[in-house]
Amino acid sequence: MATTRAPRYLLALGRWRRGVGVAPQSRALAALVPGVSQVDNKSDFLGKRPHRRHPGILQLPRVRLPQALADAAQFVLLERAMPSVEKQVQALTNYLWSRHLPVEPEELQRRAVHLEKKFRENPDLSQTEEKLRGAVLHALRKTTYHWQELSYNEGLSLVYMAARLDGGFAAVSRAFHEIQTQLPEFQPQTLMDFGSGTGSVTWAAHSIWGQSLREYMCVDSSAAMLDLAEKLLKGGSENGEPYVPGVFFRQFLPVSPKVQFNVVVSAFSLSELPSKADRAEVVQTLWRKTSDFLILVENGTKAGHCLLMEARDLVLQGKEKSPLDPRPGFVFAPNKKPKEEKFSMVILARGSAKEASRWPRITQPVLKRPRHVHCHLCCPDGHMQHAVVTARRHGRDLYRCARVSSWGDLLPVTMPSELPPSPAEGPPES
Ligand SMILES: C[S@@+](CC[C@H](N)C(=O)[O-])C[C@H]1O[C@@H](n2cnc3c(N)ncnc32)[C@H](O)[C@@H]1O
Repeated sequence: MATTRAPRYLLALGRWRRGVGVAPQSRALAALVPGVSQVDNKSDFLGKRPHRRHPGILQLPRVRLPQALADAAQFVLLERAMPSVEKQVQALTNYLWSRHLPVEPEELQRRAVHLEKKFRENPDLSQTEEKLRGAVLHALRKTTYHWQELSYNEGLSLVYMAARLDGGFAAVSRAFHEIQTQLPEFQPQTLMDFGSGTGSVTWAAHSIWGQSLREYMCVDSSAAMLDLAEKLLKGGSENGEPYVPGVFFRQFLPVSPKVQFNVVVSAFSLSELPSKADRAEVVQTLWRKTSDFLILVENGTKAGHCLLMEARDLVLQGKEKSPLDPRPGFVFAPNKKPKEEKFSMVILARGSAKEASRWPRITQPVLKRPRHVHCHLCCPDGHMQHAVVTARRHGRDLYRCARVSSWGDLLPVTMPSELPPSPAEGPPES
């Protein structure tokens, strides 16, 4: 599990992510995790469960949109009868997936200075200041990613719904499932969703915590999106009873720290903000409004990952001192990339990290080989480990648990720091 030791975590993640197979170099790095010699038997973690259902398994089986939501979306699309909607859906999907972060003004300035210096050495360009300026601007335009703000008007909101309703719903459902599996007793009453769009977060939260949730606050700057979300809740019509009770819509993010929400979510919305400063302001506000969990989800791309690491660091560094809630934050769950919907997520929780699971998380596909299993682990202290688990060395229980686990699951093992020091312990095996 990732902790505040971000640089190490990122470096290691980058290194392991490169290959899915076991490359010769990584095989050389493989080691039997020192200290991981047994399953976490402090509690009878398996109970009567078979190994294939050990409690570290967090995979969510295939997610389906609630029928009422799927029907409402279909109704809204048919009603509008948009020409060539498939093409627009594909174009928007590609655009969102390949989107980079906006270039910061300081970075633009740095590039301009560099180009100017380079062009001054060219006698053709350095003749006049005007020519030089023109050449610098032309080169900047050609080489700089041009980030554009999307205006979610009625048309684009519908295309977004057709393109992303199911994927967005699946990604946040997976994040909620993470909390529900690890903390089944957690019964949130209030939720706030920043950049709520079609309202898929509300639907997903209702599917999981519908019994306890009594207030859902949807915040979106686009009036068209808010209208669409409300319509979907009412089965595609403007009137009628909403499918989920207690949903409120706001166009502006409330900033006062007085009212907090048990769960605060931003799904695919930080990437809509035009600068690092805007993102920082929103993340700090969202954290102030969080009493239990702040869940941030973005695309499973480099840009999405960078956004989440930036937000995570902001919260963990605790620069934002909330006058009303001084409890620090910790990472409850790290990034995860399932096959069907590639997304990045980070779940930040208030309180002490000791309250969270101390088992390491599997960060790559588990490689099952004859009589041994390769697991890439992110340990609770932030270290990455490549563990080769065998029944002979680690015991049948751990071996069988490792064999049935997948990327994103927790492996129920004790880590070196938790084991009592043993004078008889030799050097780590390799
Ligand atoms: C990509 S959509 C994500 C929608 C939804 N969360 C989902 O998962 O499907 C981003 C949404 O953020 C909204 N948005 C952009 N900037 C915003 C801001 N400053 N305040 C509130 N909402 C904003 C947009 O209007 C849009 O509906």
